[in-house]
Amino acid sequence: MDFFSQRAGSLHAEDVPLDRIAEAVGTPAYVYSRATLERHARVFRDGLKQIERLHLAFAIKANPNLAVLRVLADRGYGADVVSGGEMARALAAGVPARDIVFSGVGKTIGELERALDVGIGQFNLEHEPEGRALAGLAAARGQSAPAVLRVNPDVDAGTHEKISTGRAENKFGVPIDEARAMFGRLAAEPGLALRGVAIHIGSQLGDLAPLERAYRRVGELIAMLRGDGHAVTHVDLGGGLGVPYRPGDVMPSPAEFGAMAARVTQGWDVDLMFEPGRVIAGNAGVLLTRVIWVKPGITHPYVIVDAAMNDLARPSLYDAYHAFEAVRPSGDRMTANIAGPVCETGDTFAMGREIDRVGPGDLAVFRTAGAYGATMASTYNSRALVPEVMVDGDRYAVVADRIRPETIMAAERVPDWLT
Ligand code: LLP
Repeated sequence: MDFFSQRAGSLHAEDVPLDRIAEAVGTPAYVYSRATLERHARVFRDGLKQIERLHLAFAIKANPNLAVLRVLADRGYGADVVSGGEMARALAAGVPARDIVFSGVGKTIGELERALDVGIGQFNLEHEPEGRALAGLAAARGQSAPAVLRVNPDVDAGTHEKISTGRAENKFGVPIDEARAMFGRLAAEPGLALRGVAIHIGSQLGDLAPLERAYRRVGELIAMLRGDGHAVTHVDLGGGLGVPYRPGDVMPSPAEFGAMAARVTQGWDVDLMFEPGRVIAGNAGVLLTRVIWVKPGITHPYVIVDAAMNDLARPSLYDAYHAFEAVRPSGDRMTANIAGPVCETGDTFAMGREIDRVGPGDLAVFRTAGAYGATMASTYNSRALVPEVMVDGDRYAVVADRIRPETIMAAERVPDWLT
């Protein structure tokens, strides 16, 4: 459920008509609803209320905007970060260092050092050499770094192959059948407080069965590790719960997800962490855009909007569906292709889709753009970096400026020897 709705002839974000934002901020622009973020944060937590020692870390790759992080930090969400940049954002937004977990397959020595300096809560180790490097750095500081070992459970999550992470051939984690011996070796490192395991099998999961299979494998591993005499006190089950993008999509609810997680993890006797991203932020944002032209096409007209693949990459990268809705629908419908101005055929949001009839100058939105939207934007074709706006009731604020090509050019140099 979200707080974007048609009222008095115009699509509103909470109590603000989107035409007002378009007029003041221009288009394209991302618009987030604070109430929706807060609702999702609450509903996800409620779904997991049967789990006692629960920790929630928002996967900030989904939406690292500082205002968004602030809202979630106020709701008790920590942060799952995958780079020094994300760590800096989490800290800047007021997430306590102890509530930050550092994931990612390519952490650099510099990033590990910085994370030790600020005292983050947990390192999710991706392989043995990383564990040894971290142990060395921590021991040299007289520290013992809190860590868990990420395992690859070899489960097909049944999602798009580019966002599937838990199959044996993927780059993430250590093979689960090697994890036991590796855990033993790393647990002996004085610079590591190795305390458990982590998994994350993929994103936009619409079926709980693969998640359940993966969680069960983790349960078996915990039993083996304890049998070997290790203390297993922390388990991180990652993120991945999907959200509806198309009308009629049905996804497992946070309550169903929570019931499954509680059932499978019963008796584990650990601090349990989840790293939700999309399910918190996805439906809390739209990409507001203006139609530039309607151009005839062989089968259907092309609706050319001022947003493009550089602003919202998901359709061109994953053939993802984002619902398109006129801000002021006339009641008329049309079948059209929707494309952006970038000079690539892949800069297409939809082909042969039935949509509200729109013409040049009309405003529209792409829905469910709050996760993996602005964060994946680029400046390809020397376009501006898309701004972000947060709505709260009847007020709004620009929470990220539009970064114009002039600003980007100011960071470029033509060396003397070219002049
Ligand atoms: N934890 C880890 C270790 C992850 O790699 C991810 C996402 C998450 C948590 C959060 O997953 P979520 O709850 O959002 O599904 N750009 C793609 C999605 C990439 C997801 C990468 N990892 C997209 O637009 O669909």
